[in-house]
Amino acid sequence: MKVVRRIEEMRGLARRAKLKGLSIGFVPTMGALHAGHVSLIRACRKENDLAVVSVFVNPVQFGPREDFQKYPRDLKRDARICRREGVDILFCPDASSMYAASHRTFITVEGLSEVLCGIPRPSHFKGVATVVGKLLNIVLPDIVYFGQKDAQQSVVVRRMAEDLNFPVRIKVMPTVRERDGLAMSSRNLYLGREERQDASILYKALDAANQAVKRGERKASRVRNLIRGIIQKKRSVKIDYIEVVDMQELRPLDKIRNDTLIAVAARIGKTRLIDNIILKRA
Ligand code: PAF
Repeated sequence: MKVVRRIEEMRGLARRAKLKGLSIGFVPTMGALHAGHVSLIRACRKENDLAVVSVFVNPVQFGPREDFQKYPRDLKRDARICRREGVDILFCPDASSMYAASHRTFITVEGLSEVLCGIPRPSHFKGVATVVGKLLNIVLPDIVYFGQKDAQQSVVVRRMAEDLNFPVRIKVMPTVRERDGLAMSSRNLYLGREERQDASILYKALDAANQAVKRGERKASRVRNLIRGIIQKKRSVKIDYIEVVDMQELRPLDKIRNDTLIAVAARIGKTRLIDNIILKRA
């Protein structure tokens, strides 16, 4: 596995691979790799000639009072995992090369960035779209992989790639969960023992909503109330939002229909967690 820090070197390797007719798969990450990332890396390896993973804790997607400083960083461990998984290139640029002091250009995906997680994190998706746009221009992948856990991120990035004609296919892979249902996330590392136990209530509530829809429930307000009632049983968990929206525009729905996204965000102590399910009508 090649560890590449310089943007020019990464782009040179990508260009040469393209000239040889090799396909490039890409998994962008902020490191602290877990089983969710590994599932993306495995798909990436299987479906492409060259597998590239980036580790870059993107300062631009963190708000001023968010966890940029304490975000878990362990490049040695990440590199070990990537090597074990057969990654060809680990790209880990530093912040000053990604954002020169003169950097002035940002990508905003209007309408999709200001809802759900965009309300408490107003500049977050601008930061995500910008860094993903930059990484796509550097790594030149044929396919880029994201996890369903960050559903809004996938919707934003997909729209950005379509609107700006990035020649890339976006694949969104299923959320990988712990045994008790908690969605894998690098931020789970912040949770204390009891917080960690309580955190699984998010998936339990989503699963109960799924069962209710399977039994015929169609009213979004009743589904939201069901989820709220379950989550509120854990007093340590403070709900940020429970939303029932369509998968393309993230607009609130009154009635469950095909491809409905139910998304929740909650705070447990100082940690903010998100999770979601996609409902398909029977
Ligand atoms: O999902 C993440 O880890 C990040 O938001 C991403 C896509 C790597 C952009 O920094």
